[in-house]
Amino acid sequence: MSVIEKFGTMDYGPAPEDAKESLLWLDASKRRFGHFIGGEWRAPVDGKYFETSDPSTGEKLADVAQGSIADVDAAVKTARSALGGWQKLSGHERAKYLYALARQVQKHSRRLAVLETLDNGKPIRESRDIDIPLVARHFYHHAGWAQLLDQEFAGYTACGVVGQIIPWNFPLLMLAWKIAPALATGNTVVLKPAEYTPLTALAFAELCNEVGLPAGVVNIVTGDGATGEALVKHGDVDKIAFTGSTEVGRAIRRATAQSHKKLSLELGGKSPFIVFEDADLDSAVEGLVDGIWFNQGQVCCAGSRLLVQESVAAKLTKKLQMRMSTLRIGSPLDKAIDIGAIIARVQLERIDSLVKQGIAEGATCWQPETALPSRGLFYKPTLLSNVHPTSIVAQQEIFGPVLAAMTFRTPREAVELANNTVYGLAASVWSESVNLALQAAAQIKAGVVWVNSTNLFDAACGFGGYRESGFGREGGREGLLEYLQPAWFKNASALAADSSANGAPEVANPSSGIDRTVKLYIGGKQTRPDSGYSVAVYGRKNELLGEAPLGNRKDIRNAVEAARKAEGWGKTTAHNRSHLLFYIAENLSQRGEEIQKRLAVVVGKKQAAREVQLSIERLFSYAAWADKFDGAVHGPPLRNISIAMNEPLGTVGAICPGDAPLLGFFSLVLPLISAGNAVVAVPSEKYPLIAGDIYQVLETSDLPGGVVNIVTGRSSELLKVLSEHDDVDALWCYGDDQMCAAAKALSAGNLKQVWTNEGRATDLFKTEQGEGRFYLQHAYQVKNIWVPYGE
Ligand code: NAI
Repeated sequence: MSVIEKFGTMDYGPAPEDAKESLLWLDASKRRFGHFIGGEWRAPVDGKYFETSDPSTGEKLADVAQGSIADVDAAVKTARSALGGWQKLSGHERAKYLYALARQVQKHSRRLAVLETLDNGKPIRESRDIDIPLVARHFYHHAGWAQLLDQEFAGYTACGVVGQIIPWNFPLLMLAWKIAPALATGNTVVLKPAEYTPLTALAFAELCNEVGLPAGVVNIVTGDGATGEALVKHGDVDKIAFTGSTEVGRAIRRATAQSHKKLSLELGGKSPFIVFEDADLDSAVEGLVDGIWFNQGQVCCAGSRLLVQESVAAKLTKKLQMRMSTLRIGSPLDKAIDIGAIIARVQLERIDSLVKQGIAEGATCWQPETALPSRGLFYKPTLLSNVHPTSIVAQQEIFGPVLAAMTFRTPREAVELANNTVYGLAASVWSESVNLALQAAAQIKAGVVWVNSTNLFDAACGFGGYRESGFGREGGREGLLEYLQPAWFKNASALAADSSANGAPEVANPSSGIDRTVKLYIGGKQTRPDSGYSVAVYGRKNELLGEAPLGNRKDIRNAVEAARKAEGWGKTTAHNRSHLLFYIAENLSQRGEEIQKRLAVVVGKKQAAREVQLSIERLFSYAAWADKFDGAVHGPPLRNISIAMNEPLGTVGAICPGDAPLLGFFSLVLPLISAGNAVVAVPSEKYPLIAGDIYQVLETSDLPGGVVNIVTGRSSELLKVLSEHDDVDALWCYGDDQMCAAAKALSAGNLKQVWTNEGRATDLFKTEQGEGRFYLQHAYQVKNIWVPYGE
């Protein structure tokens, strides 16, 4: 066909990218790869390999080592021995390596892009213009953080040896998201790429040697889920960073519960793509192309649920179908292809089966006429409309090029539908009204919200989820914190397991002749425990001091309900929260002497005085922080700003320390309420009578009912109820090793964020250890709202 004839049809001719360089690179290793450990290529200990192939043709690309427990162990040992040397380097020295890696990625960008496309099946246009440039950007950005580390994170230290497990949808980009911050902060790494896409990680290993990165700082062990599991369970790994399915994320949460491994999880999503009636519909259609057909929809933050206002639904659908008909499906190496191959047959079958289930549940399926290539794993762009919000295709991550469309009438309904999911990774909001778009952005529970845009990423902007989309962020300052911890915290000694805590006998029907009986405090009211039981509380000389209610499951459930109702607290102004905390301080100060006297019987005069004084100071501190712990505005290299908002977590359970009844309670509860959370707190089991003093102070301070709820009782039993409660968003637990492990394991159900003292004895009487940013960072979650800005 001549150019003139082509012009007549306006069709594209083939524009294949030459794969020669990448294939030569594979040939140079005889298409067989071992693990990269200590800067060398090592054959797998048990000699097992698996194949990786091109999903667009089915052709084998190479054999790759299947990592065993022994291989993982060798890699972890190597990373451990490299740690000291790597940490001795100055931030500047480390920055130079990261910079060199960024440069090297750029130098080899074409080969890496082609290799990515071969192994993954994604269009070369995407690997060339999006994945690889973002990889380089990530290393540049983190070279900068390495340089600034000592100034910006004084007192912090690296976690140590980090195990990283990544998925197949953005193989090299996920590697960069994991390795760059880990190295910048002085950790050494064992990374396991996904079994379908190990090749670019192996090419990256070669770049590490080319820039002279000290041996053992980066180790790559290939293999499947079993290899990942070996890394997760290895006893000498200090942190696990995982991206992948929610199911595996949950298994990793459980598997790491007994250890002190720090954990970050970036999991699945079912992100809403909301189109309001005043949106620019043509732009929204282009947004959808990027939102759900980018990378064949195999994107954790894909805009897979289209929520469109009823008044424009028909118009948008028509435009969308026209655009879908022009999407080109075919060889991913063709530069004019929009949709490439699906990663593996099992995924293709999964997509197809979910679509069929959706249709069976009443959805209408529309696909363009476009023919699919005769070989390879391809799936047509698919629009499912009339989807019921409870249908499987509206709830479950399909991870394919399938859009599930629903309609709404009012902005409120849109937000309700958007939040009607267990996930909370991302959202995209389309409206020409900045008020409407930002109002929706504020109400949607997701870690990233794109206004009139979608799927934008940058190293400076944190990325990560709310709810079952995981916890922790990648990118930005908050991403670095996942690889750091305060040196004092890392080095703190273990808290002694407290055997006496559970020793108090139960007493039926609180007696009246006793000095002091307290009640539970739920929804701003003093209430009796559901059980009708109390426990006797004794002083240091074993004298009976009073009785405290024995809270149970029902009391916790009531308290959680009250906390949920009080979440408006998070929407009050920071000034109001600050003002109220000052007022609580004033009231505590007024009653300080009598509280001190009572406390002295349990903790001694000196400690009681310090607890009261420091509690007042701590109240002042968090009153101060309430309107100062602000987010940031990032300027990514795109026509956007990204507003990093610090948002409260929601309803948080807090198991307070046993040993400092007053100060311990306030040390946990104050940062949480200063950040706008509602709290269900379990006070010191040793001296639960403190609850009476605390709620009296809170009552006289006009704290809205339900913001702080206090349930006394057996900490370990109440911890279990809080951990397993699906309506609790996060849990703070201060206790011994066993308590902390239980908190982590039991909370895996809804993957709530858990923050513990790791069973360590931290000194709450020291300002550095007892208050401030370290606490606040765990009291908020960062939401990045991307807004178009400027030219
Ligand atoms: P997956 O979660 O099984 O795999 C991700 C990574 O985890 C791979 O490197 C895998 O080898 C490793 N892995 C698997 N089991 C492990 C274990 N027990 N311990 C440690 N590591 C383990 O995801 P898969 O099977 O590849 O895809 C299944 C579904 O998961 C997809 O259809 C999609 O819904 C979701 N997914 C989500 C991703 C995301 O970015 N959020 C990425 C990949 C998959």
